[in-house]
Amino acid sequence: MGDRWYSEAVVYCLDIDTYADSDGDGVGDIRGLIGRLDYLARLGVTCLWLHPIHPSPNKDDGYDATDFYNVDPRFGTLGDFAELLHQAQNRGIRVIIDLVVNHTSDQHPWFVSARSSPDSPYRDWYVWSDEEPEDRHQGMVFPGEQHETWTYDRTAKGWYYHRFYKFQPDLNMANPAVRAEVKKIMSFWLQLGVSGFRMDAAPFIIELTEPGNPNSPKDFEFLTELRQHVQWRRGDAVLLAEANVEPDQLPTFFGDSGGSANRLHMLFDFMLNGRLMLALARQDPEPVIEALRDTPALPEGGQWATFLRNHDEIDLSRLTAEQRNEVYAQFGPDEDMRIYDRGIRRRLAPMLGNDRRRLELAYSLQFSLRGTPVLRYGEEIGMGEDLSLPGRQAIRTPMQWRYQPNAGFSTADPEKLVRPVIDKGEFSYEKVNVTAQRADRTSLLAWFERMIRTLREAPEIGSGSTTHIDVPTPPGVLAHRADGSTGTMVFLHNLGTGDAVVDLSHLEPEADLPIDVLGDRSYAPVGKLDRLQLAGYGYRWIRLRRGRGF
Ligand code: GLC
Repeated sequence: MGDRWYSEAVVYCLDIDTYADSDGDGVGDIRGLIGRLDYLARLGVTCLWLHPIHPSPNKDDGYDATDFYNVDPRFGTLGDFAELLHQAQNRGIRVIIDLVVNHTSDQHPWFVSARSSPDSPYRDWYVWSDEEPEDRHQGMVFPGEQHETWTYDRTAKGWYYHRFYKFQPDLNMANPAVRAEVKKIMSFWLQLGVSGFRMDAAPFIIELTEPGNPNSPKDFEFLTELRQHVQWRRGDAVLLAEANVEPDQLPTFFGDSGGSANRLHMLFDFMLNGRLMLALARQDPEPVIEALRDTPALPEGGQWATFLRNHDEIDLSRLTAEQRNEVYAQFGPDEDMRIYDRGIRRRLAPMLGNDRRRLELAYSLQFSLRGTPVLRYGEEIGMGEDLSLPGRQAIRTPMQWRYQPNAGFSTADPEKLVRPVIDKGEFSYEKVNVTAQRADRTSLLAWFERMIRTLREAPEIGSGSTTHIDVPTPPGVLAHRADGSTGTMVFLHNLGTGDAVVDLSHLEPEADLPIDVLGDRSYAPVGKLDRLQLAGYGYRWIRLRRGRGF
C-alpha cells in the first residue's frame, strides 16, 4: 500500500452554501455538512475539497475573500469548522480547502487601505501602475464578462492589476510581506487540522507582474517555498493545484529540473479532461490514448487529479477549434450552454442525454485512469443544471436530498434559498434525489458506492502506472492497464454503441486469475482472455494479478 494517502484518495468537492442547510435560513452551512458526513462515508469518499469558506461579498462565489482567517458567518463559526474536521476525521475523511491567494476581494481591508493612499502599509501588497499599461486588454480569464486586466482606480489614482474580475485585485507576490502572509494563512488552517489546500490559479500566483508585459516572468521558487513550509507544518498535507497550462510547462509545477517533486503534489489533469470530453463526443477512445501517451512524465511523487466535472465550466481551450466544435455539437448544442468562448456550463448527466449506460461508462473510465479521482457533489445521483441561472451558477444548484420541499436541502421559504432548486423536468428533485436512490439497489448512487469500493480494492489505479494496451481493438474500445506493487488491473471501455469482442490473450495472468471485479453487466467468465465480450457502452474491470500480501 502506498504511503501517500492522496494517491489512493477519492476526492469529493462541494460548496457549503448549496449542500445542506441546518438552520433553515436558506443557505447551506457547516452543521448541515456535518450531518451529511455519514452519507459521504458510505459513498466511499476519503477527502472533501471545500470551495472557499471565507467571508466574502460572494461576487465570485467566495473566490473573492475579505478575511482569510475566518469562515463565512453564513456557514457558521470557526468552532463549527473545527467540529467538522473532528467529525470528518472520525470517519476517516480528510478535508482540504480552497486557498485563493492570487487575489482578494476589492472589499478586503488590505485593498481598502491600499487604494486609500500611496502611504498605506498595504499599498505594495497589490500590483499598481501609474500609467495605463499597454497590456490592459490582454490576458483576461473570463472573456465576454471581463474586458480588461488593469483597471483605473480613482481613489488610488492608479491602475491596479486583476487577472480575474475587476473586483478581484491581484496580490503582489513579489512583496516578501505578502509571501509571509500567505504562509501564515496556510499555517493557520493546517494548525486547525486541514489536510491541505486546493490552490487556486497557481500559474498566476507565481507571476511577477510587470505592467505592459503580458508574459511576465514566473517565480517557481515560490512554489518550492510553499511546499517546504507546508511540509514542515504538517508532513502529510498536500497541495492540489489548478494550473491549466501547456503540457510542456506542467512538470515545472511539480518540481524543479532536478526531477524530484519538490513543489506541488497534485495537479488537476485539464489535458485529460478535454480529451475525455472529445473521446465521449466522438465515441472514439483515440484522444484518451493520445493523452496517456503524450502527457509528460511526472517527477517521482507527483500525481494527477482526474475529473469529468468540477464547479467551473468544462474548459475546452486545450482542444483545437475544430475539436471544440465537435464537443459543442454533442454536449453543448445551444449557445446558452456555452461560456467564455471555451467551455460548457452543464453537468454530465444532461450532457450524456441522461443515458445511464453512458454515465457509468464515463465515470468508470475516469475512475480507472491514472491519478486520483475528483467527484463533484450531485454527480453521484446524476443531477442536472439550471440554464436560467447566470454563468457557472447553472451547475451550482442545491443538493437534491429527497422528494420534499426545497429538495430537502433547506426548510426556508423557497425565495430565501441561496439558489433555486431544480424542480422541473427530468432532473427535478422529484425524479433525482438521494433518498430514492438510496432505497434502490440499481440506482446510480448505488453504482457509485460499488464502483468506489472496487476502486479502493485496486490501489494500483492511484499509486501505480497506467498504460494503454496497444493491441488491435474493435472501433470505440479502449483497453488499458494499471500496474503497481499491489498487482495489475486491466480495463475495457466501449465508447461506442456496437457489441465488441476483444482479444487480450497475450497478457499473462496468474494461475487462479483473472477475474471480473466490476462491469456494466455479468459477462461470461474471462477465460483465456482471448474472447472478451463487451456490450455497447460496456466496461469491464479485470484483475489480472495480485501483488504479494494481497
Ligand atoms: C479559479 C476557480 C474559479 C474562480 C477563479 C477566480 O479558476 O476555479 O471558480 O472564479 O479561480 O478565483
